[in-house]
Amino acid sequence: MNIALIGYGKMGREIEQIALERGHTILFKIDVDNKDVLTAEEFKQVDVAIEFTSPHSAVDNVKVCLAAGVPVVIGSTGWYNQLPEVKKYCEEHTGGMFYASNFSLGVNLFFELNKKLAQLMANAEGYEVGMLEVHHTQKVDAPSGTAITLAEGLFENYPRKTKWVSQVADQPTEELLGEEVLPILSLRKDPAPGTHMVEYRSASDRIVITHEAFNRRGFATGAVLAAEYLQGKKGIYTMADLLKL
Ligand SMILES: NC(=O)c1ccc[n+]([C@@H]2O[C@H](COP(=O)([O-])OP(=O)(O)OC[C@H]3O[C@@H](n4cnc5c(N)ncnc54)[C@H](O)[C@@H]3O)[C@@H](O)[C@H]2O)c1
Repeated sequence: MNIALIGYGKMGREIEQIALERGHTILFKIDVDNKDVLTAEEFKQVDVAIEFTSPHSAVDNVKVCLAAGVPVVIGSTGWYNQLPEVKKYCEEHTGGMFYASNFSLGVNLFFELNKKLAQLMANAEGYEVGMLEVHHTQKVDAPSGTAITLAEGLFENYPRKTKWVSQVADQPTEELLGEEVLPILSLRKDPAPGTHMVEYRSASDRIVITHEAFNRRGFATGAVLAAEYLQGKKGIYTMADLLKL
């Protein structure tokens, strides 16, 4: 498969390694200094593009791919407020896209565990629930896309909570949280590939589930598997399609 990497940073480099190990060819490595390649005619030789840049550039990059008829795997997070617009653009161009706030198999199992625990806790009295996510200091968005997906999964099965609020460590807020609010605490330190924790705490005990990534290999492998899945397809896909969850 001929792949274009859009964003050749920490994730782009990790994905390159996995893609080569799996026998694929990297046709283009696109970053800020050679962005014009994205619009070039030869870009059409690409079977799938894999986009890991930033919340600010993801949507424009995805639209260029879809307009060129190149299916795109989107790893960038922090742009999901524009998801309806991007889905519409994809449909209008009869394109193919695959997006995930987290491409790791372990995290996607963790999403399911979180939903199941929320279901079990829904009728338990005396517990208060909160989330913590820890990432490296260069991460632009807070809370992480993964934490937001976890929050949405919890809301599905835990009717007492209906919205989340972001709390950033070392920046205390005076805001009083209503009963319906799920606090998500974001902590930034180095090195930290990504930790997510959901905690139910009562006066006498606490129940905690945690996912901790040791490195970026899990995300990168998932992104390459997503690209293999997307090749030759039209439509909009997520990890639930790939993993048949
Ligand atoms: N979905 C997942 O599983 C997952 C996992 C890890 C990271 N992420 C997300 O992926 C994104 C990238 O993460 P990273 O750790 O590789 O960051 P990074 O900062 O190491 O790399 C991003 C690269 O994108 C480049 N870039 C920025 N704007 C660009 C543009 N307009 N066109 C082309 N290249 C551009 C930067 O120069 C940089 O080299 C972030 O949004 C991060 O939150 C998602």
